[in-house]
Amino acid sequence: ANEPPFDIKSLRSDIEAMISDNLDLGPSLVRLAWHEAGSYDCFKKDGAPNTASMRFKPECQYEGNNGLEVPRRALEPFKKKYPQISYADLWVLAAYVAIEYMGGPSIPFSWGRVDAKDGSVCGPDGRLPDGGKTQDHVREVFTRLGFNDQETVALIGAHTCGECHIKYSGFDGPWTHDKNGFDNSFFTQLLSEEWVVNPKIQKMQLMDRATTKLMMLPSDMALILDPKYRKYVELYANDNDRFNKDFSAAFKKLTELGTKNLRKAPAVEC
Ligand code: HEM
Ligand code: CA
Repeated sequence: ANEPPFDIKSLRSDIEAMISDNLDLGPSLVRLAWHEAGSYDCFKKDGAPNTASMRFKPECQYEGNNGLEVPRRALEPFKKKYPQISYADLWVLAAYVAIEYMGGPSIPFSWGRVDAKDGSVCGPDGRLPDGGKTQDHVREVFTRLGFNDQETVALIGAHTCGECHIKYSGFDGPWTHDKNGFDNSFFTQLLSEEWVVNPKIQKMQLMDRATTKLMMLPSDMALILDPKYRKYVELYANDNDRFNKDFSAAFKKLTELGTKNLRKAPAVEC
């Protein structure tokens, strides 16, 4: 039977209600699921992706995971109310619910991820990408995770939502004018704005000359500086349906890295 041992319909609507009360949680839940998976090495097959290993030291203390205690804590009451779901499944389900809530694709959920028991399985520090670096670094990280250029560009399109926080990363501000919406606007902004260095931030980041309200990381700019990445930026900027479809497939793959024997949850009725 594919029926999960928890009431997925009720859990989904509980998560949705929490996000509608605190819109900034949506993007942070997406980042949580991404960083949990982003420790993977597809060649060494280690790094404990999709096991909620980030609950433990040393991983919870890696600089790249700063701020993720907020979504982790926000999900604790659901783990208490639905004890049969693993943390690893809960984090992924919450990210899918957030993406859909913000107007992104509805991603078919599979369950059965197994939680890490302690921090002994955590990958080494330094596997998550550094926003201050450019295409060679981005390609190295996403190749290690098992993604090609098209999937990489689609995935980074998640910067359509959320923002950077000085206290977490040293970077500041949102990528798009609607940080609680999920569509291809990261790509349209990247191509249409004129990006200049923001002199007010200590770390190197860019701002749009027109409003100075938006930001891009050097790693985001790499997607238009590298011709092999740029062609997908153009594709997604021109076709939101294609972005939704490709993002959905790539994010599903990301959130299933390293897993075995997942089972499809019943389709969601709208
Ligand atoms: C936020 C870097 C790829 C989703 C951030 C932040 C940085 C960053 C520096 C700000 C964190 C903070 O200060 O709170 C990068 C780099 C990437 C990358 C360098 C790859 C080269 C991705 C991917 C996803 C993603 C693949 C998801 C599929 C997000 C989201 C936020 C975020 C949703 C907003 C979080 C919030 O508003 O709390 N990223 N990221 N990022 N990232 Fe990425
Ligand atoms: Ca992990």
